[in-house]
Amino acid sequence: DSNLTVRELAERLNIAETEIIKSLFSKGIAVNITQTLDLETARLVTEELGVLIEVPEVIAAATKQTEMLDAKDLEHLQRRPPVVTIMGHVDHGKTTLLDSIRKTKVAQGEAGGITQHIGAYHVDVEHNGVSQQIVFLDTPGHEAFTAMRARGARVTDMAILVVAADDGVQPQTREAFSHAKAAGVPVVVAINKIDKPDANPDRIKQELSELGLVPEEWGGETIMVPVSALKGENLDTLLEMLLLVSEVEELVANPNRLGKGTVIEANLDRARGPVATLLVQNGTLRVGDAIVAGGVFGKIRAMIDDRGQKVEAASPSFAVEILGLNNVPSAGDEFEVYPTEKEARLIAEKTAETQRNSRLQLAMSSRRVTLTTLS
Ligand code: GTP
Ligand code: MG
Repeated sequence: DSNLTVRELAERLNIAETEIIKSLFSKGIAVNITQTLDLETARLVTEELGVLIEVPEVIAAATKQTEMLDAKDLEHLQRRPPVVTIMGHVDHGKTTLLDSIRKTKVAQGEAGGITQHIGAYHVDVEHNGVSQQIVFLDTPGHEAFTAMRARGARVTDMAILVVAADDGVQPQTREAFSHAKAAGVPVVVAINKIDKPDANPDRIKQELSELGLVPEEWGGETIMVPVSALKGENLDTLLEMLLLVSEVEELVANPNRLGKGTVIEANLDRARGPVATLLVQNGTLRVGDAIVAGGVFGKIRAMIDDRGQKVEAASPSFAVEILGLNNVPSAGDEFEVYPTEKEARLIAEKTAETQRNSRLQLAMSSRRVTLTTLS
């Protein structure tokens, strides 16, 4: 059962109810507006109208994915690349893994041009003969980490849990896994440092099983890939597995609308002013857009990708650095583009006031009102 009435389906597809009734009538099926349609019937409608081939599945995926999508997006949904966060205990090789993936995947000529660190990287991966993209988030160590983990489900589609084969499951391994679990994010394990003489992948699998992460080869459901980030061993298998998981996830967004998403990190650059790295989760972000991020706003003056190149537009799942904000937003803040700068300013000012009030309340409740907490 699709659990959608004719009226609801019409709303979601942004078409007239009579269109649906007519379409079904032409196939010899009589329905009324308040009738609930079964999955097969809903699919007949959408196929006929050429909108979405598998509506109920896509709707399910969309509702699960985020509040970033609304009903109007449903007829414009397109596949988007997976966003993958690398997590794990300190020194288990997260950064080395990401560096290594980029080195093998980013063309030599471009590698020299990598000057910007924006905390998010796009990688092209060959899969079933087609080139596909994966967006990696380099969260460890920086301030955004806590905010982002709290919003894990919204920001990331999958997590790579890196576990060093010579060290095993450690406190932050458990912590990272519990965040991923709470957020409902699928986890792929990378058993790293297998080049080390004291590496013991079987012991790691045993320890992970005790956490509830049972490897596929032991009858469980967790994909575990032994790798050496340092030597670049088995990284292609890891990437392949990420794409397999992302296929099941049905990741979609609507690129044909104004952009919205989440602030990954932000800082004040002496020469360039406020700089923010944004992850676009729905719509397309463009230079010249009037944007609000938490309590700050601005007109996007320039956008820079992870290779340090200026870009004009960023579609869903892509991360870019933007210039032109009037202030520095907080990591974890949501951003959204508005039709006019005037509107953006109004919304931002309202949000800033709400933020000030709640800070004030917090300060009052702890009876420690100082000049800095009020500023
Ligand atoms: P934090 O960001 O501090 O949590 O650490 P990290 O998980 O990013 O670890 P990082 O990549 O910085 O690696 C820590 C150390 O492990 C470095 O000295 C790496 O060279 C080493 N290392 C990482 N991967 C491998 C590997 O596959 N084999 C070996 N032998 N050493 C590795
Ligand atoms: Mg690191």
